[in-house]
Amino acid sequence: MSETRSDSIWTCSPSETASVGEALGRLLQGGEVLALIGDLGAGKTCFVQGLASGLEIPEEAYVRSPTFSLIEQYEGRLPVYHLDLYRISDVDELESIGWRDCLDGEAVVAVEWADRLEGYLPADYIAIRLLSKSPEQREIQIAIHGRCPVWWEAWIDLL
Ligand SMILES: Nc1ncnc2c1ncn2[C@@H]1O[C@H](COP(=O)(O)OP(=O)(O)OP(=O)(O)O)[C@@H](O)[C@H]1O
Ligand SMILES: [Mg+2]
Repeated sequence: MSETRSDSIWTCSPSETASVGEALGRLLQGGEVLALIGDLGAGKTCFVQGLASGLEIPEEAYVRSPTFSLIEQYEGRLPVYHLDLYRISDVDELESIGWRDCLDGEAVVAVEWADRLEGYLPADYIAIRLLSKSPEQREIQIAIHGRCPVWWEAWIDLL
């Protein structure tokens, strides 16, 4: 699987990271799988909170990391699944929480600790890597794997 398109942006605060997520959330069309990768505290959940706002998930549906439930479902302008695989023990557990059902082509699927899904990601997905550069600085790398989404040029123009 080759990375055909990639891009990187630096942020200096949690709200800036959320804004990047929000901008992406506004562009998504449904069916995208976002593989979030980054150490503890890198900002994955912060990014997904912004994404949720861009997807018009009502503010009262507070988006927190589903560390214990592994998966949460939200309804915005598109259905959204938010997964956190930090505590997953093996891929059987993934099957039992309905991972395959999330990939219905309609929903946006955001997966924290997606590096644990090695070999189970679909052919088309968007890797979002968050790197801590200082206590307040993050580098957010976005790379398209597989088919390039129609909104990619619009995303590049935004930055
Ligand atoms: N530029 C930044 N972007 C995002 N978070 C930042 C930034 N600067 C500081 N932070 C802090 O980093 C932390 C990010 O937490 P968050 O829960 O989003 O990380 P996470 O990657 O989801 O961690 P976990 O692996 O535990 O789920 C927060 O405490 C936030 O305030
Ligand atoms: Mg998190």
